[in-house]
Formats: sequence, C-alpha cells, structure tokens
Amino acid sequence: MKHPAILVLFCLPVCFAYPLNGAVREKDPSTDLVQQYLENYYDLAKDVKQCVRRRHSGPVVKKIREMQKFLGLEVTGKLDPDTLVMIRRPRCSVPDVGQFTTFPGLPKWRKTHLTYRIVNYTLDLPREAVDSAFEKAPKAWEEVTPLTFSKIYEGEADIMIFFAVREHGDFIPFDGSGNVLAHAYPPGPSLDGDVHFDDDELWREDKSGTNLFLVAAHELGHSLGLYHSADPTALMYPVYNPRTDLTRFRLAQDDVNGIQSLYGPPPMSSPDGPAGPTESVPPEPGTPATCDPALSFDAVSSLRGEILFFKDRYFWRRSRWHLEPEFHLISTFWPSLPSGLDAAYEVNNEDTVFVFKGNHFWAIRGTEVQAGYPKDIHTPGFPPALGKIDAAVSDEEKKKMYLFVEDKYWRFDENSQSMEQVFPRQTADDFPGVGPKVDAVFQEFGFFYFFRGPLQFEFDPNAKMVTHVLKSNNWLYC
Ligand SMILES: *[C@@H]1O[C@H](CO)[C@@H](O)[C@H](O)[C@H]1NC(C)=O
Ligand SMILES: [Zn+2]
Ligand SMILES: [Zn+2]
Repeated sequence: MKHPAILVLFCLPVCFAYPLNGAVREKDPSTDLVQQYLENYYDLAKDVKQCVRRRHSGPVVKKIREMQKFLGLEVTGKLDPDTLVMIRRPRCSVPDVGQFTTFPGLPKWRKTHLTYRIVNYTLDLPREAVDSAFEKAPKAWEEVTPLTFSKIYEGEADIMIFFAVREHGDFIPFDGSGNVLAHAYPPGPSLDGDVHFDDDELWREDKSGTNLFLVAAHELGHSLGLYHSADPTALMYPVYNPRTDLTRFRLAQDDVNGIQSLYGPPPMSSPDGPAGPTESVPPEPGTPATCDPALSFDAVSSLRGEILFFKDRYFWRRSRWHLEPEFHLISTFWPSLPSGLDAAYEVNNEDTVFVFKGNHFWAIRGTEVQAGYPKDIHTPGFPPALGKIDAAVSDEEKKKMYLFVEDKYWRFDENSQSMEQVFPRQTADDFPGVGPKVDAVFQEFGFFYFFRGPLQFEFDPNAKMVTHVLKSNNWLYC
C-alpha cells in the first residue's frame, strides 16, 4: 500500500540534504556549512543564499534562532562558537523541523510484531558485533511498548537495514565521513520503515568510532514513527552524543513518552499510560470492540479526507490529524440517519457522502443531512429492480461510481450522469480475489479497499489484482 502523502512529506525536507563537501571551497566555509545545515534540517528555502552570506537577514536569523532553541543552545541568532561547534557534530539526517511535525499520528505501524532484516554488513566490525547491535536496539523499544521484533534472513522485512556509501538508490545520498551518519524512513511498506547507515563512518562497538548500537536505536525510533526530540537527554535528539553511558543505557523519559503516545505501554505494565482508542461512547453490551478480530463493517466511506467505518449504531472516524480513531454513535452526528447502514460513498467534488439503507438513500454534507432526503433508490438513473446495496464507491479519478449488489455490480458514469450499458457484471470477473459478495468498499491512494467479514482486500484497479489481504480493522490501528 502506497502512502504518497507520507512519502512526499518525508521526502521533501530530506531531499534538500545535499552533500556538504564541495561547499567548503568558499572563502568562509562556516557560512556555507550553516546554509546547508539550515536547509537540510530546518527547512530553510534555497533562494535565501544571498542573505546567509550577509548574515543579517530576517529569515536566516529566525532559522538560526530556531535551530539554537531546538538544540538547546543559547538563542543568540548569531553564529557564535557554540553554534558552530554544534553544527559540525555528527548527526542523523532526518530534519529537526518540517511540515511533517504537524502530522503527529500519521506514520505508525498497525501491528505490534515487526520484522527486520540486515541486508548487508559493514566491514568495520565483525558480523557478530553488527548482529548484536541490531539485537539490542529493538530491545530498548520493546521494553516500553507492546512491540516485538524478530529477525528474518530473506524476503521483505518491515525494517530493511543496510550499509551504503554516497548514492544508494533512494535519492538521499550519504555525505562521506562525518556529518550525516544514517537515516530512516517512517512506518509503512517497501522503503518506509527502512534504515540506512553511512558506511563511510567508522562503525564501532565501543566509542572509539561511531557507536553502532546508539545510532541503530535512534534510527529505529524513526522507523517506529518518532521524530526528533528537542530534549538533549533523549535518544531521539538529532545530534549523536558520544558521552552516552553505554553500560547503563536506557531510553530517556521523553523517548518513552513519545513511543507510548503511539503504541501505549507494554501489556503487563501498570495501566496509567495512554492505550487504546479514546472512545467517546461508554462501553455497553453490544458495543462493537475496535480490535475484535472478527469485526466486520456495514459500510465504509471517506469524508473530507477522513475515513468513516460504520457498524450497527456506531461509527469509527479515522482522521489524519489524530493519533487514535474516534468512536461515536451515528445519531450524535446525524440524528435522522438509521443504524445498520448498507453502503456509503463520497463524491469528493460535490463534498457529499451518500448513504444507503434498504430502498432509501441520504445525502450528507459534513454533519448536515441534506433537505429532500431520504430518496427512493427506485428512481430514474438507478438500475431498475435494484435490490439492497451491499457496497458503493466513487472512483474520483475515473469519475465512475460503483454499486455492488450480491455478486454483481453496476457502474455509473459521473460525466454522462447515467448507468453504463453493459452492466451489471459479475464482481468476481472484474475484481478477482475480492468477491463474490462484499460488505463495504472505499477508495484511498488509488486503491479500492473491499471489506468482506473480518477481511479487507486492497485491490489495484489498474493491475486488476488484490495487492494485500488485511484484517478489516487494520485502519483502526489494531
Ligand atoms: C548494501 O545494499 C545496498 C542496497 O542494495 C547497496 O546500495 C549497498 O551498496 C550495499 N552495501 C554493501 C556494503 O554491500
Ligand atoms: Zn534522527
Ligand atoms: Zn538511504
């Protein structure tokens, strides 16, 4: 499953990370170094180069102050000696600021067991030393979360780890010895979650070079969804700290707070940490449990960038802006809607969600049910003799709307505003692997997500194939 939003958000700031060497040929190397540092880690726009040279421009001084504040330096807005020493220290190449800090809950694994694979090794250390560092690093995070890790030796792991120099296939080249040590991608499929180490560093088991365990544990924090911390005692502080006591290494409280805000505390520990979704409905008999492995949905639809999962009298609301899905009574938002919906779909450019139950359908805009609804589905435009609708989805790109009924489906052309002629067709013929009958469907990232009982099928409409089979409540961080 592709998450273009995540990829773009994380790539933009990181892609500004041009190699530092070459910049140092200028008369005053420190201005270039600062320029690069601010561009790479503080999202300084490239076109303010002139201003950096003059050293008294507004945006640059503002960025210097931001950097000093984040790194815990005295905030002078000037390139004082402490600041210059700090920016020469080795560090992680994930930026300290960037747009993604406004998406706190977006990247997170939706499972608790993760695999990692060491794709290749550095020659700086014996293999066993590398293995040992990558065994210890996940333990630091396992101790304080429900997460568990296991190592695999072939195939695609959630977290692929390798050592490389310079250009290494992801458009974010390493920079030779010093400065950038490693980088990692936030949770997700393929490249996401992966960790790359700059093999031009001298990797060591102790502190005679760059300590592999420390950097691995930090990068793994990114793989799990944490950003940088401004707390200098935190493992997630962006600058490598050679003074860390390795014999008594523990995560800082700040790291623990961060990771537990995503995954909660380990199952056996005291229940005072945050855990589970914030349920706005008090549990009562018959309330569906979010992470019940048998959970199925009545209908699923997007709504203004969020995803709504309907079940009986309730719905979950999964937003990009919140850590946990919200759980509500349908009647709290739309008092006139019935419970036990059959199907729902959003027409994005009309900012409208249509919901179906029995012979009727309603149009809703935000929390407003539109006037004139419900309407009867046996109206001109709909196929005659249409039974109860199981699932519906609108393909925004192709401007087609699909209605799934039993083992068949109809397609509606939004441009010509009419049902297409050759329909109904057999769902199993055109959506191999998902049918014959489905409960719900919605579209996201160019994929159709079909729901059938406790299962979910990610379907690529261009390749015409199922690309992933997931649990139905996978979107609810189960
Ligand atoms: C490790 O694998 C990566 C990705 O395939 C490659 O770019 C890199 O050169 C390899 N490094 C070593 C040390 O073989
Ligand atoms: Zn980092
Ligand atoms: Zn890389």
